[in-house]
Amino acid sequence: MGGFFERVDPIVVAHGGYLNKHIGDCVMGVFGAPISYGNDAVRAVHAALEIRDAVSELAEVHGRRLQIHAGVAAGQVVASTTGSVTHHEYTVTGESVNLASRLAAAAPPGDILISEAVMRMTRGKIDCVDAGWLNVKGFAEPVRAWQVVRRRTEASTEAEPLVGRHAELQIFGAATASCRASGRGQAFYVRGEAGIGKTRLVEEFQRVARYGGFDCHSALVLDFGGGAGRDAIGALVRSLLHVSLTDGPAASHAGLDSAMAAGLVHQDELVFLNDLLDLPQPPDLRVLVDAMDNEARRAGRIRVPASLVQRASCAQPILVVVEDVHWADETTLAQLLSGEMKN
Ligand SMILES: Nc1ncnc2c1ncn2[C@@H]1O[C@H](COP(=O)(O)OP(=O)(O)OP(=O)(O)O)[C@@H](O)[C@H]1O
Ligand SMILES: [Mg+2]
Repeated sequence: MGGFFERVDPIVVAHGGYLNKHIGDCVMGVFGAPISYGNDAVRAVHAALEIRDAVSELAEVHGRRLQIHAGVAAGQVVASTTGSVTHHEYTVTGESVNLASRLAAAAPPGDILISEAVMRMTRGKIDCVDAGWLNVKGFAEPVRAWQVVRRRTEASTEAEPLVGRHAELQIFGAATASCRASGRGQAFYVRGEAGIGKTRLVEEFQRVARYGGFDCHSALVLDFGGGAGRDAIGALVRSLLHVSLTDGPAASHAGLDSAMAAGLVHQDELVFLNDLLDLPQPPDLRVLVDAMDNEARRAGRIRVPASLVQRASCAQPILVVVEDVHWADETTLAQLLSGEMKN
């Protein structure tokens, strides 16, 4: 069980979940409290899927049959700090917590059951099938359950139609036209209350831009699990170099080589790009890094991604979207501002 928790707990945390507690051999993770990131339901289901894969790997290593069953529910909860004077614990209680636990109990080995609410919140991002109605202790009426099949990688094609936002779309349309005509870029900040429709609007911008011949790249600033390769600027650089995080170092090196051949990257920038892509420095560059002071390192990290965008945009206009900039650290903000001024 130690090995199981060691494997599962970090997956919850890496998806922005709060590791609430272990109950027997159960792990309870909370998404959206104490902090909500907007896509909490999707991340909860992604975490469950990753846990399922991790545990089947674990089973192989130990040569035993080991399968998880999981439940994901969503709704209003009561969040509070409980405990005694010496030990404080943040926890959530309520109907949804109860339902998640019942769904987990009802799920056959290897299955993930989600509630109707979670199915609706993950529509287009997760494929699931109807698992019928369950009689759940504590609920007067039978509850509808859905079985998770897989996560979807391609963007949803069945999005609800956009309502309104004519003024914003007009401004954006004019900006893309002016960008094409003048060769000069523009930056937009989309700000608004939680849930007002920022992401949906920006998705529409991307659709419009793509239609107008723009090359689109997007990244997300997360304030959790910012481990290797998860930072927004690193993700943008990867996207511009056409390498994916899962491809491994060889693919990143190949991406850098072809970008150099295409003139997108200069020799003296390699040291910073290795850094941004979490690649080990070859011995000759290692010497250079050691000789560099912090200020030079920082300046390079800030300057190089902007130069890459600028050169790439000579061939084709580019739209770069960065979501949730309010979580960005100081370096990420400096990198974004540098890009904005250059382009
Ligand atoms: N103009 C619109 N037409 C149709 N649906 C919309 C529109 N704007 C938003 N929605 C829907 O409303 C919901 C919330 O919108 P969205 O996620 O874009 O908000 P947000 O401002 O990005 O939220 P957050 O602050 O949590 O990031 C989504 O389901 C989205 O599809
Ligand atoms: Mg949003």
